[in-house]
Amino acid sequence: MDIHSEKILILDFGSQYTQLIARRVREAHVYCELHPFDMDLEAIREYDPQGIILSGGPKSVYDDGAPAVEEALFELGIPILGICYGMQLLARHFGGKVVPAGKREYGHADLVLKNKPGPLWGSFFVEGKSPVWMSHGDHVEEIPLGFEVVAQTDNAPVAAIQDVDRHLYGVQFHPEVNHTPRGEILVNTFVRKICQCKGQWTPGHIINDAVSRIREQVGTDKVILGLSGGVDSSVAAALINRAIGDQLTCVFVDNGLLRLAEGDQVMATFAENMGVKVLRVNAEDRFLQALRGVTDPEQKRRVIGNLFINIFEEEAARITAATWLAQGTIYPDVIESAGGKTGKAHSIKSHHNVGGLPEYMKLNLLEPLKELFKDEVRAIGEELGLPHQMVWRHPFPGPGLGVRILGEVKKEYADILRQADAIYIDELYASGYYNKISQAFTVFLPVKSVGVMGDGRTYEYVIALRAVETKDFMTAGWSKLPYELMGRIANRIINEVRGVNRVVYDISSKPPSTIEWE
Ligand code: XMP
Repeated sequence: MDIHSEKILILDFGSQYTQLIARRVREAHVYCELHPFDMDLEAIREYDPQGIILSGGPKSVYDDGAPAVEEALFELGIPILGICYGMQLLARHFGGKVVPAGKREYGHADLVLKNKPGPLWGSFFVEGKSPVWMSHGDHVEEIPLGFEVVAQTDNAPVAAIQDVDRHLYGVQFHPEVNHTPRGEILVNTFVRKICQCKGQWTPGHIINDAVSRIREQVGTDKVILGLSGGVDSSVAAALINRAIGDQLTCVFVDNGLLRLAEGDQVMATFAENMGVKVLRVNAEDRFLQALRGVTDPEQKRRVIGNLFINIFEEEAARITAATWLAQGTIYPDVIESAGGKTGKAHSIKSHHNVGGLPEYMKLNLLEPLKELFKDEVRAIGEELGLPHQMVWRHPFPGPGLGVRILGEVKKEYADILRQADAIYIDELYASGYYNKISQAFTVFLPVKSVGVMGDGRTYEYVIALRAVETKDFMTAGWSKLPYELMGRIANRIINEVRGVNRVVYDISSKPPSTIEWE
C-alpha cells in the first residue's frame, strides 16, 4: 500500500494556525503537505491531491497584491475547503462580495445553523449550534451564485458557505484551533467524506512505509546516528533499527550534563532491550574541562556544541564504513527552513540535530521522520516499543544542564541540580501534573543564602523551580501548581539534596522572560 497515494494539499496564506490545519488532517489519518499559496498550478495538478484546504491569512482579499491562487485552481474539480481568508478568496472568485466587517470579530462565537446542513456538517452542530473561534476583520457580504449560507454568528451573517454539487466549502471561523471544540469533526468529515480518503496514515502503516523506504535508500550501506536520548533521535534510531538492524550504529555522547541516570536509561532502552548497536562515549571530564571558567551563556553553548561535534566526528571516523548520517529532523523543521510564507523550496534544515557537522564528512543524509509532526513521532515511537515516559518527555535542551546552571558549570553544581530535578519530576508524575504542563525543570543558582538546620546555621545554594504551559514554546505562561505540591517538592529537595537550603518558584511569563534561564 502506498500511504502517500491519498493526500490533502494545504495552501498557506500566512495564518499563524496553518500548521494546526495539517495536524488536524493527519489526525484524520490522511497524509497532507503544506505549501506556499503560490504553488504552481501545474505542480498542483501533478501532485493530484484528493482535496485542497486554503488557510487563513493576515491580509484582505481586496488589497492590491493580496496573496491569491491561480484562478483555475477553483475549476480543477477537486474538493476545496476555504478557512477564513481562504473562504473569502473562494467567495470572491465565484462573484461574491467581501467587505471590511463593521466590527472586527475575535474570540468565541456561537455558530448557528441557518439551513439544512448538507454532507460536511454531519455531527458538527448539536441542536443547530456549535461554538467556534473567530479571528477576522473582513467578511463575506454577498455570497456567489450557486452557493448557500450554512450558518451565521452574531457578527458574521455569512459564517459558513457551501456549493455541495461542486464540493466547495468555506468557513469564516477556525476549525483547526482547540477553541473550536468540534472543529476536529469538521476537518475529519471534509477529508474522509467529501474528499473520500480512507485514512491510511496510521502509525502502523507509517512504520511499514518508512521501513521499506529506508531499506530501499540504504541498501547494504552502514548508517551512523547521534543519539541524544531526546524523542526525535530516539524514534529515528528505533525506526532505522527496525529497518536495517545492525547496519546502524548509534553514538551516544554522555556530556555529563544529562539528567539523573539518563545515560544508563538510554543504554538500557536501546542497547539492552532493543538490541541497537550503541557506542556510549563518557565525555563528562572533557566537557567540564572545556567549560572551566566559562560564564557567558552564548559561549557555554558554543563550547558544548563544538565539543559535541568534535567527539561525534572522532567516533564517526572509527565507523569507517558508514556512508549515511541519520537525523531526527521532523516536519516542522522542514517547514521552518522552507523560508517563511512565500518560500518555494522545501529545503531541509540540514544537520539540524547534530548542530552542524562539517562538510567534509560528506555523508548522505537519512531523515526518516521528516514528514512527521511531533505527535506522530511520539505515536510511532510507542508503536516501536519505546517506553511511554521517554516518548512523552518534556523538551530538554541540547546543551542540557549547561544552560540550567547559571554562570560557570561545575560537577558539584550539576550533581546537585540532577538530584533536585529528579525529585521535582518525580513529584510531578506522582501528582499527575507532569502531563498537564508543557515543560518543568529545576535551575541551579550559584548564590548562597543563610538557613538553619537543627541548631546550626547553614550557608547554601538556591534551586529555582520552573513550570510552564505553552502550545508552541514561543510564548508561555507559568503553571499554577498547587501550593501543597510546591511545598512538598521544596521540602524534599531541601531535606534530600545536600548543598541546598532554599527553593524558589519562577512566576515569569515568556515574553518578557524565556523558558530556560541560561
Ligand atoms: P527559551 O528558553 O528560548 O526556550 O524560551 C524555548 C524552548 O526551547 C528549548 N531550548 C532548546 N532546545 N536546543 C534545544 O533542542 C537548545 O539549545 C535549546 N535551548 C532552549 C527550551 O527547553 C524550551 O523548550
